[in-house]
Amino acid sequence: AHVWRGVVHEYRDRLPVTDETEVVTLGEGGTPLIRAPKLSEHTGNEVYIKFEGMNPTGSFKDRGMTMAITAAKEQGAEAVVCASTGNTSASAAAYATQAGLKCGVLVPDGKIAMGKLSQAIAHGAELLQVEGNFDNCLEVARKLAESYPVFLVNSVNPARIEGQKTGSFEVVDVLGDAPDYHLLPVGNAGNITAYWKGYKEYAAPYVNDAGETIAPVATKTPAMWGFQAEGAAPIVLGHPVSEPETIATAIRIGNPASWDKAETAREESGGLIESVTDDEILEAHRWLSSREGVFVEPASAAGVAGLLKKHRAGQAPTGATIVITVTGHGLKDPQWALRGADGDDIEPTKVPFDVVSVADALGLE
Ligand code: F0G
Repeated sequence: AHVWRGVVHEYRDRLPVTDETEVVTLGEGGTPLIRAPKLSEHTGNEVYIKFEGMNPTGSFKDRGMTMAITAAKEQGAEAVVCASTGNTSASAAAYATQAGLKCGVLVPDGKIAMGKLSQAIAHGAELLQVEGNFDNCLEVARKLAESYPVFLVNSVNPARIEGQKTGSFEVVDVLGDAPDYHLLPVGNAGNITAYWKGYKEYAAPYVNDAGETIAPVATKTPAMWGFQAEGAAPIVLGHPVSEPETIATAIRIGNPASWDKAETAREESGGLIESVTDDEILEAHRWLSSREGVFVEPASAAGVAGLLKKHRAGQAPTGATIVITVTGHGLKDPQWALRGADGDDIEPTKVPFDVVSVADALGLE
């Protein structure tokens, strides 16, 4: 039987590792590509969900972190640092623990989901709540890494992008070719950069370590469609947002580090970067959980929100193969599930312990 060994081992010939590299891995990647029947029917496409919540720490960050922590260790690091809206810190903390490295994380005060905060603390990271937003945290983390003996493991670290490009490889390996469209949320813009790099590499011939030329795996590349939250949409607006606001705290970012690369991905792929409102994000979040059976955190639903929005506007394709990355697990930030479409809290029904009452409550006759 084939046992999944994590993205670095599975794709090692396309990653910056050697036979001597000690790989730090929690078995990340190999996440399900789930056909979404309701989205497919509703939009008239073949729609697939790449469920990145199924990674070891519950988000796509693990793909990048296995590479970043592996590289940091290889280069003799003793400590790593990151700025984070939550998922990066959870992932960095877990991988640093396995590698025996110290881990410092800077998170925006009060704007990080409880599940993510718990993860970083559980894994023993030094967690600092900075009086500022994510952009302020990243600025401090970068300066810290320039002046002190600590490695930065945010997505400005090229190792992160290398690891995360394996998301595209998996999509192509499962579908047999690249999709026509790839949709995903955009925050600090590392992931759209990584996916685009992966798709381009798989559509080109390449020379392996043995000097053999390998034919392209994919015949084409998809159009990249990225979606920011309306209150945190600097790329859409064309200028930084000093006070980004959205309930999707994971993408509450006003000045993305990979801004230029996201625009390159958009232009080279013939794609787009647009925004979705918090209500549209929550609608997509509910759609995924109540119609497709996939539970994600709000930010993760931005790509689905984008498809529903473009479909409503008559601007979505039909008859196309569409892959949407949903980036993080719903259990990270579960409170949104307990809020109905009307915005009211959902209270569980209480019943006495007898069969007739339970049958009544379930509407059974
Ligand atoms: N979705 C989730 C769940 C995220 O946590 C993030 C980023 C994104 C989407 C956006 O990805 O930044 O590559 O464009 N979270 C970072 C963090 C910022 O600190 O966890 P991106």
